Amino acid sequence: MTCGPAINGHRLLARLDAFAAIGATPAGGVNRPTLSVEDRKARALLANLGTARGFTVFQDAAANLFLKRASTDNDRPPLLIGSHLDSQPTGGRFDGALGTLAALEVLETLEDNGIVTAGPIELVAWTNEEGSRFSPGAFGSQVYAAGAFPAGWQDAVDSNGASLPDELAATLKALPEAAERPLGGPFTAYLELHIEQGPLLERQGALIGAVEGIQGTRWLEVTITGQVAHAGTTPLVDRRDAMAVAVAIIAQLQATVMPADVNARLTVGRLTLTPGAVNVIPGEVVFSIDLRHPSGAEIDRLETEITSMVSEAAESGGCQALVRRSMDVAPARFDERLIGIVEDMAKRRSFPCRRMFSGAFHDALFMARLGPAAMIFVPCRGGLSHNEAEYVEPHQIIAGAQVLCDATLEVAG
Ligand code: GLV
Ligand code: MN
Ligand code: MN
Repeated sequence: MTCGPAINGHRLLARLDAFAAIGATPAGGVNRPTLSVEDRKARALLANLGTARGFTVFQDAAANLFLKRASTDNDRPPLLIGSHLDSQPTGGRFDGALGTLAALEVLETLEDNGIVTAGPIELVAWTNEEGSRFSPGAFGSQVYAAGAFPAGWQDAVDSNGASLPDELAATLKALPEAAERPLGGPFTAYLELHIEQGPLLERQGALIGAVEGIQGTRWLEVTITGQVAHAGTTPLVDRRDAMAVAVAIIAQLQATVMPADVNARLTVGRLTLTPGAVNVIPGEVVFSIDLRHPSGAEIDRLETEITSMVSEAAESGGCQALVRRSMDVAPARFDERLIGIVEDMAKRRSFPCRRMFSGAFHDALFMARLGPAAMIFVPCRGGLSHNEAEYVEPHQIIAGAQVLCDATLEVAG
């Protein structure tokens, strides 16, 4: 069996360093919130690198950024490869950047080797995959998949009051050289390289994960309303302490949901309390619940259980509760032919490979609803991600990008 052209590992590693410098944190991570000044810098750098190699730069109304490499027939639907450039506030250097820059490396490798493909291959950098600045996550790919913006998106604001429509408009304006293109559009296949963000590949000594699908995610926002009162004078019986109720709920969630099911994931990652003064009983607490499971039916069941538990706890603490969904993504299965191609390409290079499900959500989830999609995972040290210490060995980076390149050529024929 012959292997395709070798990617340029040094170039890819240098690119990862250059992008990690945009929004670099003192602890070695990245803070590049979606649609921020840093995100615009990263987008501009990607566009410049693409233009320098003769690729055409486009952006759609959701600020999804595309670099198109021409082919024999440029009117054919493209083969899309890519990921995202935004990060968590204390994010790592590889989450999203790896797949985006590996896609650029694939396009450049084809260019270096004078390979002409029948249909165009396009890099895509999706907007707001993370969702931590503006909900929901995977925003750009959702808008692409739906061909329209979701209801109520104009109301999204970040924790500083900046609005999603304003930040989107400013980001689009910051890249005037990108030609506009309509939302959505047909594609022949979608491939995304990403770090696993969990410990399975490393524990099993595998270099490549052939991803079979992605578990479902539901985000809930819980608001507990009590009564603001004096901390020193209010006896226990007169308190309607929103924080005391929230703490009881969170403790009960942690003690029940995951211990009862190894496949369930529940995280309370954000909590705000009002008014937030040392000697004032909190009148309102708002917290998030990130709930995940490979079974959509189980997510429904857990949501019902959580909602009734929240209202019972609120009532017994003299408070009111409101539970609102802020994101809901059903589990997805990837294309069997593409999964097989990823496995075959890893085998050809003698990279130990295993099939697996993704615990994290990705833009590929929405692309899988529209057409054939698959993902390639590489390990990250200790399975650590959404953390500034996120780390991937150079040989793992290069192996992942090589499999992306090989699989891209195989799919492109
Ligand atoms: C993606 O960032 C996720 O939270 O799974
Ligand atoms: Mn990611
Ligand atoms: Mn992420």
